[in-house]
Amino acid sequence: MCGIIGIASNKPVSINIINSLKKLEYRGYDSAGLATLTNNFINEKKCSGRVEELEKILFKTPSNGNIGIGHVRWATHGVANVINAHPHSSEQVSVVHNGIIENSDEIKKELEAKGLKFKSQTDTEVITLLITEALKNSNPLDSVFKTLNKLHGSFALGILFKNFSDIIIGARRGSPLAVGYSNGENYLGSDSYALKSMTNKISYLDDGEVCVLSKDNVNFYDANQKKINKKTHILSENENIADKGEYKNFMSKEIFEQSKTAKNCINEYIDSLKRDINIYDFPLDPKKINKIILIGCGTAYHSCLVAKYWLEELTSIDIEIDIASEFRYRRLKFNKNNLYIFVSQSGETADTAAALDICKKNKVKTCSIINVVESTIARNSDWVLPIHAGPEIGVASTKAFIGQLLVLFILSLKLAKIRDDIDEKIYEKNIKNLKKIPVSLQESLKTENNIQVMAKEFLKAKGSMFLGRGSSYPIALEGALKLKELSYLHAEGYPAGEMKHGPLALIEEGLPVIIIAPKDKYFEKTLSNMQEVIARGGKIFFITDNKKIIANDNIRFGLRVPFLNNLLSPILLTIPLQLLAYHVALLKNCDIDKPRNLAKSVTVE
Ligand code: M6R
Repeated sequence: MCGIIGIASNKPVSINIINSLKKLEYRGYDSAGLATLTNNFINEKKCSGRVEELEKILFKTPSNGNIGIGHVRWATHGVANVINAHPHSSEQVSVVHNGIIENSDEIKKELEAKGLKFKSQTDTEVITLLITEALKNSNPLDSVFKTLNKLHGSFALGILFKNFSDIIIGARRGSPLAVGYSNGENYLGSDSYALKSMTNKISYLDDGEVCVLSKDNVNFYDANQKKINKKTHILSENENIADKGEYKNFMSKEIFEQSKTAKNCINEYIDSLKRDINIYDFPLDPKKINKIILIGCGTAYHSCLVAKYWLEELTSIDIEIDIASEFRYRRLKFNKNNLYIFVSQSGETADTAAALDICKKNKVKTCSIINVVESTIARNSDWVLPIHAGPEIGVASTKAFIGQLLVLFILSLKLAKIRDDIDEKIYEKNIKNLKKIPVSLQESLKTENNIQVMAKEFLKAKGSMFLGRGSSYPIALEGALKLKELSYLHAEGYPAGEMKHGPLALIEEGLPVIIIAPKDKYFEKTLSNMQEVIARGGKIFFITDNKKIIANDNIRFGLRVPFLNNLLSPILLTIPLQLLAYHVALLKNCDIDKPRNLAKSVTVE
């Protein structure tokens, strides 16, 4: 959450800071700001709202200066207003911050007792004042280290100094930070994507590390302030390319490119000649795996939930799943024969990263299923299975979910094969079906016209309910999550069989109820649950891959996606639900790529 940029150059930097902030807006869009140095003066400009507003301010009153820092905020401490926007500057230093300082109240009291005054409600301002105090008798690097030693929590920082006008200091503990190199210009950024238009040479700071960058030089230090060397990565041409092309927004582009991204993913893992799956180098002998524990947040957690059904169906392994924010505080019994799998699009989600750290401390084997391969979670895992979806910019996760499902399915199949849990012919048949997924996804996207009509029915609704059984239950959860995060309409996802234990009380005349009923062993049972809803006046929207039922007086709308086999249906059934959330949000004029109160990558607890 929150995006940081810093540029030290031999030419004015404010326009490039603004351009990079636009790329970082997926990390936070409550407020924005920048500070540049001109003639030893910190020139700070801030606004509430989007980077566009900051750009307008700069247009009226340009900021000069060949060195500067910028920030987009997702509010944690203090409301989203101009005062709380970053940077937070004293006369001496200016600071941009991503993360949370957990002991900020304590530090604030100490500083106030010394007579120092705070302007904002943020935790960040304690950093500004601590560095300012330390600078009275130390150089910039020492004052940053002295300050870091007093801070608890996780963070990334970018710091500018009034009297040391050629340097920016960056520091990382928990939140990601990258450094970029170019001729006569060096950069600091929350991710390489923000720097991509300026350079393809990148280094990533590890936890506890600090960097000092000037236009010609970058020095790195470890947590003990010892100088270190860092590896430089060269980003490939197509890495991080994110452009919405002819689409209205990133989300629609990401929904409609799912056939392509799924194909990329399948091609990476399937050896068509050998009719086999290219997954080797398991961190643990698959035959000896005692239990698999899958961990994620939000949409990534939903893909863990689908995988639980797959792994249970295909393998003899015991499966457990958990939400990362719960897992990290449980009293767990770790077992070295367990495999802990972390699912995350960004690879920076704080709760998932913390859960991974706990596993590492307990010396158990970890695997991550990740989109951003240079991310913290990927770098800290024993084993990485990338989903190959390309940058996902829309806050609502779509193509990454499908990518996660594909990799989890492929992994389930491979484990089943190695453990002799699956018949060779069934294994090959599943691989054959997998290869049909891209075309079937394309077919599923054709439901869009009907969904546009269906979406209108949600405009006056007080809420909605998504129901499914078996692996359609997580798809119901995912459909409800998409609808609420994009359109702000209340939506509940439930196992259809659970309705009679309470949620049925919510059904009233006209309440939209989405029934997800593929052709599987639950089909008839889901129909019975649907009847219970119909009897109470619920308005039914029926989504299936079964040819059997759609026309029925009690069904307001029926949609059909292609059928491949029972196991793969969750992947195809997801598409109409993504489109539904998208079109309801569009009709309600919501900000599709940047839903209120949210951010793409949740790097705070
Ligand atoms: O980057 P991650 O996959 O770890 O993110 C996890 C969740 O924050 C994320 O899936 C979130 O729920 C999405 N906004 C849902 O669309």
